[in-house]
Amino acid sequence: MLARRAARVETAGLAPKLDGGSPLWLEALGANVLDVDGNRYLDLTSGFGVAVVGHRHPAVVAAVRRQSGRLVHGLGDAHGHPLRIELAAALKAVAPVRDGRVGFAVSGADAVELAVKTALLATGRSRLLAFEPAYHGLTFGALALSSRPHFRRAFDRHLHRRVKRLAYGCAPRRLASELAGGEFAAVVVEPVVGREGILLPPPGWLVELGSLCRRHGTLLVADEILTGGGRTGRWFAVDHDAVQPDLLCCGKALGGGLPIGAVIGSAAVMSAWDAPGEARHTATFVAHPLACAAALATLRVIADERLVDRGARIGAELAAALSDWPSRFAQVRAVRGRGALWGIEWRSPAAAAGFSERLLRRGVLILRGGATGCVTQLLPPLVTTARQLAFALREAAAAAE
Ligand SMILES: Cc1ncc(COP(=O)(O)O)c(C=O)c1O
Repeated sequence: MLARRAARVETAGLAPKLDGGSPLWLEALGANVLDVDGNRYLDLTSGFGVAVVGHRHPAVVAAVRRQSGRLVHGLGDAHGHPLRIELAAALKAVAPVRDGRVGFAVSGADAVELAVKTALLATGRSRLLAFEPAYHGLTFGALALSSRPHFRRAFDRHLHRRVKRLAYGCAPRRLASELAGGEFAAVVVEPVVGREGILLPPPGWLVELGSLCRRHGTLLVADEILTGGGRTGRWFAVDHDAVQPDLLCCGKALGGGLPIGAVIGSAAVMSAWDAPGEARHTATFVAHPLACAAALATLRVIADERLVDRGARIGAELAAALSDWPSRFAQVRAVRGRGALWGIEWRSPAAAAGFSERLLRRGVLILRGGATGCVTQLLPPLVTTARQLAFALREAAAAAE
């Protein structure tokens, strides 16, 4: 019924496909989702990686409720409010950016736009280096950096031309020869490739990338929109390698379920924006008071509940449970991941689709994706209990047969 109604009022191709058995979410709490038909699921998608603290965490809900009794909407970049200052301080305290300054955004893609504009402004250069595969969002600037032809094809001729793309994890000498010319404003990198297939960088690669950037005056932009907030078992994925980016993008988990993004950049780089006149990157809803309240509560929950450590422990549990899958299941080509961010690569898109559909019927939600459609992705909320995780892994093994 609702599916038929949706078809009359929503746009096919933009709205969820409801005819393929995908659930209509009614409620969510912690790692659980309830659909309109009363089915309960364990959400190993974290709602596209958002629910690091779980869905509807009580502290986040309370903070939003409190703030909604005071101030729901402000005046963006024109008049401030106290929470955005507090949130900027909290972000500065956890982000591995030297002498950080925060710029707010309304989404992940908007954070990428802000980081890229900052790099162009601060360096005066015009070229950008990105990787294959990569996903940075679908607004025009971010889309120019995202690699998947499906997203780009129709808009390709309108995209920023000055993007060079190298293979993710490519030989450092390839990077060096590109950067040596001094033309690149920024290298934009996912410290772990997420949506395009969960790929870990080769050991030492990010460190090498960071030092090449420094040598050649190119800014390193770490897109931690998916990997930030403890997802990989550290506050940020670059922390595994002690890499300090010039600009770090956050989104997803940051808002605890409310939309917000942020860029933390070094003071020297962010000072490029300091000029007379109106803010040159802003949006009506930027630093939205409710989202700031939710984000502050989320950062506190991550710290108070030691969720970063929990992310590392989930990583160890997933590694132990999944590492023999390639030898155990004929259709599994590889498994890889870090913390609570894992990918299972199947031998065909059909095998990946079959697995996620069988798992859905067993009450576990996972993401299917990657440029090839062969990688199913497991992103449990960091509040997932040991019992819930054991249930999910039992069902996953049964669905993989
Ligand atoms: C690494 C990365 N960057 C950017 C984005 C875009 O974020 P948003 O969908 O909030 O615009 C995503 C979303 O999946 C992402 O995973």
